[in-house]
Amino acid sequence: MNPTLVTTADGSHSLYIAELSEHYHSVHGAIQESEHVFIGAGLEAVSSRIPYLHLLEMGFGTGLNAFLTYLACLNNPARHVYYTALEAYPIDTQTALQLNYTNRLNAHAHAPVFEAMHQCAWNSPVAVTPNFTLTKLCTTIQEATLPTNAFHLIYFDAFAPSAQPELWTATVFEKMYQALLPDGLLTTYCAKGEVKRTLRNVGFTVQSLPGPIGKREMTRAMKPA
Ligand SMILES: C[S@@+](CC[C@H](N)C(=O)[O-])C[C@H]1O[C@@H](n2cnc3c(N)ncnc32)[C@H](O)[C@@H]1O
Repeated sequence: MNPTLVTTADGSHSLYIAELSEHYHSVHGAIQESEHVFIGAGLEAVSSRIPYLHLLEMGFGTGLNAFLTYLACLNNPARHVYYTALEAYPIDTQTALQLNYTNRLNAHAHAPVFEAMHQCAWNSPVAVTPNFTLTKLCTTIQEATLPTNAFHLIYFDAFAPSAQPELWTATVFEKMYQALLPDGLLTTYCAKGEVKRTLRNVGFTVQSLPGPIGKREMTRAMKPA
């Protein structure tokens, strides 16, 4: 798969995969979508008092969610983030370095961190800063072996069910459920009824929340205590 760089409505870049007719983010704004779905409805819903935050991302892609998470945690220096990201088809470094996120976020001083997130080794933990440890696992979610009761939060950022139905199944969500700690949250931009039903069948408590610009709703699921 060979992604093309595109600019979304808020001026931030995304990637487009012609083979799947899929964008990595909303065309209404990549940054606005990620901030709304993953930071606002996910990270900010987890207690800021948790000192060691364990987070799992399905689909590292451009690294936007990891970078936004790093930036959001800068004002909480007592917190250490352990960020594990699954990615089956990593983008090349040349493409990653063209992405305009540090500019659009006015985070020029943190550009070395964004670059380190892309250039660091796969399949082992790397302290990209003293407070942010990134473990990028180059694997499919179907093949990944994940720890049980390990994560406070999951960013479920797969391509849409219409493009990759095999990633929105009870088997995959059961794996997410097992990986979450009790009270843990899973957030996704997807609001399809069938996806919510599957999440409920696996045992999650499911909430529909207002979506980002261009989308009426999104979904947040909680593993009951
Ligand atoms: C919607 S994009 C989101 C990427 C990322 N969160 C971002 O902000 O750029 C979905 C990502 O899932 C990855 N992916 C596709 N199939 C996968 C699979 N079976 N297992 C793991 N990752 C997969 C894609 O390569 C892509 O990077």
